[in-house]
Amino acid sequence: MAKVGSSLMAIAEVKTSSCSAKATKRVAFQGLAPLLWFSFGTVAILLQEVLSVYPLLSPPSLTPEQSNRVCNALALLQCVASHPDTKILFAQARIPFYLYIFLGTIGESRPFEYLRLATLGVMGALVKVPDTRVIIFLLSSEIMPLCLRAMETGSALSRAVATFIVQKLLMDDVGLQYICYLPERVFAVNHALENVLASLAEQPSTRLLKHVIRCYLRFLDDGRSLWVLRNFLPKRLTDGTFDHCLREDQTARMWMQQLLDNLPGRPVTKEGGGI
Ligand code: TRP
Repeated sequence: MAKVGSSLMAIAEVKTSSCSAKATKRVAFQGLAPLLWFSFGTVAILLQEVLSVYPLLSPPSLTPEQSNRVCNALALLQCVASHPDTKILFAQARIPFYLYIFLGTIGESRPFEYLRLATLGVMGALVKVPDTRVIIFLLSSEIMPLCLRAMETGSALSRAVATFIVQKLLMDDVGLQYICYLPERVFAVNHALENVLASLAEQPSTRLLKHVIRCYLRFLDDGRSLWVLRNFLPKRLTDGTFDHCLREDQTARMWMQQLLDNLPGRPVTKEGGGI
């Protein structure tokens, strides 16, 4: 078993050695996810890797080597989570419950930041090509507060992945209904998005800004969120802070205009020259 485990780690290391190598491997090895999932004992070993770091989470004492090792296991789980044939099995087996604990860690060192990012990567892979059954599982597993927290306190990359996950959950009809069911939930998402915008003001990223705008646009599809949006839409979105991003991206500009056009009754300020 240990031998299988170490050879899996070797695959993961090759897989994560560089971004382009990672993408190439993924394309070249389409069958990896079913192979990992259906081969005897493999997922059990990966879970063993995950469980082995639990004692190091609190008090925070994860070393870079230990973090790298568990992140490699997470990279393989991410592969299973992203494959259309295995993602539902991955969700039905409740694997994310083993990983959520990592999102609740408070260690500020790099090993912890990488661990949280790798965990968000697994969740991001689960929602990338949406499957309503997977979305229902994730919502019922209380993924929302974990994502909102990452959006509020995570590193730039964690915020981006967490925002992507929330956007994907919102795009699903069940996800939108779930969030709009209680105004407190809409408030909480709005607040987290506001935090993301605050971080974007310091470190601009048109890509992430577009995820944020898409979230707001999607809220328009459920009348229950309108009151919150009309009264609490973050000022930064309309005060010209992101004009430079919007100027260079036509799609972002179009979405932004669509958002403003569809929020009648809102005192729109365009101090920064408008869009
Ligand atoms: N159980 C909480 C709820 O149902 C989960 C939650 C916390 C939540 N914050 C959220 C769900 C924000 C959606 C949005 O409200």
